[in-house]
Amino acid sequence: MVQLDLRFANKFVSLHEVDQFQPVIEDAHRRLHSGQVPGADYLGWLHLPSEVIKSGYDDLTSAAREIRESADALVVIGIGGSYLGARAAFEWMKPEYYNQLPREVRGGPELYFAGNHLSAAAQKDLLRVLEGKRVYLNVISKSGTTTEPAVAFRILRSWLQQQVGPDEAKRRIYITTDAHKGALKELSDTEGYRTFVVPDDVGGRYSVLTPVGLLPLASVGVDIAAMLEGAANAEEKLNTPELSDNPAYQYAAVRNALYRKGKNTEIFAYYEPSLKMVAEWWKQLFGESEGKDHKGIYPASVGYTTDLHSMGQFVQEGYRNLFETVVRIENPVSELTLPSTPDVQDGLEYLAGKPLAFINDQARLATQIAHVDGEVPNLLLNVNDQSARSLGELFYFFELACAMSGQLQGVNAFNQPGVEAYKINMFALLGKPGYEQQRRDLIGQLEQ
Ligand code: PA5
Repeated sequence: MVQLDLRFANKFVSLHEVDQFQPVIEDAHRRLHSGQVPGADYLGWLHLPSEVIKSGYDDLTSAAREIRESADALVVIGIGGSYLGARAAFEWMKPEYYNQLPREVRGGPELYFAGNHLSAAAQKDLLRVLEGKRVYLNVISKSGTTTEPAVAFRILRSWLQQQVGPDEAKRRIYITTDAHKGALKELSDTEGYRTFVVPDDVGGRYSVLTPVGLLPLASVGVDIAAMLEGAANAEEKLNTPELSDNPAYQYAAVRNALYRKGKNTEIFAYYEPSLKMVAEWWKQLFGESEGKDHKGIYPASVGYTTDLHSMGQFVQEGYRNLFETVVRIENPVSELTLPSTPDVQDGLEYLAGKPLAFINDQARLATQIAHVDGEVPNLLLNVNDQSARSLGELFYFFELACAMSGQLQGVNAFNQPGVEAYKINMFALLGKPGYEQQRRDLIGQLEQ
């Protein structure tokens, strides 16, 4: 199970400051589990792992098998919660240069992500890479109306139809969307695309353990059964309101104790580049859940030791509104030892024979001590290894911690009304039917 180590935070938050959250947490835990919190329609994630295991997912496994066996490349089209979880797990589980490995080593298709931007350059680059490959598409959008994936889908669908004709293109498209509504659902019904459902009661950023994440991940051979088991284990172990037994609630309490002392920026720090997208997923989870009512802890991220040479200066000596949450892999994936080269005067012989993982972890320890000296509270989250099971635990750990943290801040952790503001302006500027008045208002504003 994920372990929270508070030794680098004790100087900044004392035990009684954490313990004072106990009664509030007890009450919030009861309300979460009885559906009495704001946004209660979106609590499906709470028991999702055990329910998915119980109900089974054979249809998903057989679709994934078909993609795995038939596709040279799978393009996953989605944005936000319909993108970040799958990408986070893919990068956590698979080697950095996965797409460049020979097919027999990969054992499945190359994996690409699209529809998470509106860049023509990036979209064109992708089409170039896909040329000559047997391509499958998995389009993911819960609402089925999001512009970025819709635009990418139209471009990729037209391209695929040109390559293989409309009937074969149709066979190679899987849609993951709402069971009943949205443009994508309507399109799937008309065109006869094969579909998977995003459950009504699971919001985008909590949806990685639904077909949103599971289909693409299974298609590239991620052990989704192990990931679900890890999450189900966390679901069981963390189903207690007792702070002393619940590291997810401790994490929520400590970050809120720090927030109340003016630490309003949390930096997720990692020492394995393969955690970069987990940090992005975490940023969306906490940013979209807490950043409302003019409140919230701003979630940022750094990849160390790389960013010690860029952001390290700011963290050490800049404006003191920061705390760090370091996610550490206790047993890193690969062992690589520094060779001994006594004839080469590179000043590194004192490290000869030392595993790189050891050097990396000493850098982590040294940095944590330095940052604490620089008045940056440090929380340490120890994750056993980079397995699918551990990631399942970590996903659930953060989802629960985020839901609790939202309760402690008094916000609805399950909606995202602020995401609409830019969309309305964009639709108005692009001339979407129904946005004529907003268009006139905006143009008026711009001309002032
Ligand atoms: O967490 C959320 O709900 C959002 O980030 C959505 O996932 C994102 O806006 C994409 O929405 P959709 O899946 O409807 O295309």
